[in-house]
Amino acid sequence: MKKRFYVTTPIYYVNDVPHIGHAYTTIAADILSRYNRLMGNEVFFLTGTDEHGQKVEKAASEKNRTPKEHADLMVENFRQLWQKLNISNDAFIRTTDVNHIKTVQGLLQKLWDTGEIERRAYAGWYCTPDERFWTEKEVVEGKCPDCGRPVEQIHEENYFFLMSKYHERLIKYIEENHSFILPETRRNEVLGFLKNNTLGDLCISRPKSRLSWGIPLPFDENFVTYVWFDALVNYFSATRYLVPGAGDAKLGDFWWPANHHLAGKDILTTHAVYWSTMLMGLNLPLPLNIFAHGWWTVNGKKMSKSVGNVVDPNLMVEKYGVDAVRYFLFREVPFGLDGDFSEQALINRINTDLANDLGNLLSRFVAMALKYFNGEIESSDSLDNFKEHCIKSINSAMDEHNWSHLRFNLILESIWSIVSETNNLIAREEPWKLAKDNQTRLKVVMCNIWNALRLITPMLYPFMPSTAEKMWTQLGLKSLSEEAGRSLEIFSWDWKPGYDIKVSKAEHLFPRIETGEPKKK
Ligand code: MSP
Repeated sequence: MKKRFYVTTPIYYVNDVPHIGHAYTTIAADILSRYNRLMGNEVFFLTGTDEHGQKVEKAASEKNRTPKEHADLMVENFRQLWQKLNISNDAFIRTTDVNHIKTVQGLLQKLWDTGEIERRAYAGWYCTPDERFWTEKEVVEGKCPDCGRPVEQIHEENYFFLMSKYHERLIKYIEENHSFILPETRRNEVLGFLKNNTLGDLCISRPKSRLSWGIPLPFDENFVTYVWFDALVNYFSATRYLVPGAGDAKLGDFWWPANHHLAGKDILTTHAVYWSTMLMGLNLPLPLNIFAHGWWTVNGKKMSKSVGNVVDPNLMVEKYGVDAVRYFLFREVPFGLDGDFSEQALINRINTDLANDLGNLLSRFVAMALKYFNGEIESSDSLDNFKEHCIKSINSAMDEHNWSHLRFNLILESIWSIVSETNNLIAREEPWKLAKDNQTRLKVVMCNIWNALRLITPMLYPFMPSTAEKMWTQLGLKSLSEEAGRSLEIFSWDWKPGYDIKVSKAEHLFPRIETGEPKKK
């Protein structure tokens, strides 16, 4: 039976241009989506932009634009980057979409009507850049405990979502649902935080006198809603108007809740605590998983504009190619841990894993197939040990647990284990010698190499879609995207295309990158 699979990225602030961190989460969601489509599942992959709030208002006014004008311009940077990175999102949500605004207001009204929101006088320490209040205890020497910038004391009437009443229920929920928050270390952090602190209520309004760029509260026009309340709701509101066949309430319910919300570790609390309790207050099911990934540093340092070390994904793609960048980000560091980005590490991965191990394997195979058999590959017996190794590795690359726990690096390792074993097979069998004196064995060996390469290609597809398409064609096969999703058979060792196979030569997949001193003339 077809399963449905709904994955989201955070929606990105339009105050600035995208960097490698934004690309990271979005590529992860793309890998999951492509894999699920291959598995024949119905997929909804959502990304988008977070356009309200102080950050955007400030960035716009610095450029002498209205916030909406600013958002309209900045959103294009994201859309263009996703195209460049071969991102296959099904929808792109903007929090300034009329339908999103309506959904947010509908949910606010519902919470107000059911007594989940209260109006109160409030005094607290406010961090303007982070747009959040801190308690007396949390403030560190007059500074925001998160970003270290000064906080200011604010007295005002505001509206509060009664988050505190869900404290115990949330702890219980996290304890009972082991993969609700992943990775495990982050789950333990959230549980530790909840068990050692009293959960307060959440201020979900901002007086218009202080901030006008937001969604007006439907029950009090003097206020707009807190940007995080607006932003988190995007995951739900998209299921009301952006899913295929939207408009039909039943379809919305079909898509809700999401399978994965992917987010960086810095925004785990807003997702795991604010969003979960908001959903409890609304009587809506919680997402099946919230996954917090780590942060990229650059040569050991935090990326920052003032240091000038922010990695522009556009530039990386132009220099090294989209698939190399996609591969590197998910092979180099386990998703969930912090990692260090350096161009040298990227170049090393390209030269070893991609150019040497994979690219050379394919081009050697194609050259031999053309030379010995005019490109024609006939079916023949399997080499038992080799076949067994390939099947074991492909099974581990397709392992349900690896995918549900987003163990991308392990999946890639399993694929590369087939690559290495195939390179070993060539070294052991020396087809160029067999060509002289053992045609029968040569046919068997070449057919087994073909089969191994053919088997890994659809597994590479989620990570490196255009490389996989090129490999598929070179292997003499028609269309990977057509074949994909039609049947899971292409993941089995015994699959055959049902037509004659003729491999064809093409350019090398990943030319080596030379980094030595330029040669003297
Ligand atoms: N608008 C909010 C999210 C709302 S979701 C309902 C937001 N936007 S953001 O543009 O500032 O950041 C988006 C994502 O980028 C976050 O998941 C954050 O963790 C991620 N990253 C920012 N810097 C990063 C790195 N250096 N490395 C990896 N990811 C990083 O927060």
